[in-house]
Amino acid sequence: MLPTVSTVRDLRLSLLPWREAGETVALIPTMGALHKGHAALVTAARKVAKRTVTSIFLNPTQFAPNEDLSKYPRRIEADWKLLVEAGCDLLYTPSVEEMYPEGFSAAIDPGPLATILEGAHRPGHFNGVATVVVKLLLQAMPDVAFFGEKDYQQLLIIRRVARDLDIPVHIVGIPIVRDEDGLACSSRNIYLSPDERMRALALPRSLAEAAQKIFEGQDIEAVLKDGLKHLAAAGFTVDYLELADAQTLAPVRELKAPARLLAAARIGATRLIDNRAVDRP
Ligand code: PAF
Repeated sequence: MLPTVSTVRDLRLSLLPWREAGETVALIPTMGALHKGHAALVTAARKVAKRTVTSIFLNPTQFAPNEDLSKYPRRIEADWKLLVEAGCDLLYTPSVEEMYPEGFSAAIDPGPLATILEGAHRPGHFNGVATVVVKLLLQAMPDVAFFGEKDYQQLLIIRRVARDLDIPVHIVGIPIVRDEDGLACSSRNIYLSPDERMRALALPRSLAEAAQKIFEGQDIEAVLKDGLKHLAAAGFTVDYLELADAQTLAPVRELKAPARLLAAARIGATRLIDNRAVDRP
């Protein structure tokens, strides 16, 4: 029902007949533990491409030693079911050895965009992301690749890297999918206890409130300070809450162009990220 391949060779062999028939191919790179947000990527991909390929690869190089790689949820059967229901055409599940064979030593450094916000709190994270995404793009050579806007900085970095390296692919960002209560869908949400999950709603709420106030023209510094207070009151330890230019991610203190409000914060042992668009009034 959903053909699955695990080697670069088999991936390319599977793609060959589609290519020969002139069919467009979309790639949806994931790390598994799929949810509604991933299903939305497949749905969006199916609207623009004849064939969709989803990769599931829990990429070790984007996790620091102190991060949650070993605890990261793995649910291949549920993932498989979600992809069948979403109408995906091919699943690619390379092993760590397939992606990083003995002696592998190359790495992509995305540059300054990778050193701020998430990059400042997770040094090296975006080098790992960029390296694996470039590999996946070169392995599958899709016409288009889909990423969620929840990882907004990641999306900008992948666009930048694909452009800088002349990789012939169109990178598409898909709006954040939220649960009914407003929490952004994330593979990490399952770590939250019922109490943490309730308190975690302060994150989307603080962002929505702050975005509205900034849009109305309130003082940005004061709004951010207020947002930090709300998050702390809910029990969050905040890594950052920042208003940034929507393209460059440079800090914004006067709204002149589309901006993005971005936050990362920990509740208990779980680190959540979220963001909101803030456009000029
Ligand atoms: O967003 C993710 O799931 C990962 O960072 C990605 C893009 C699949 C690279 O491992």
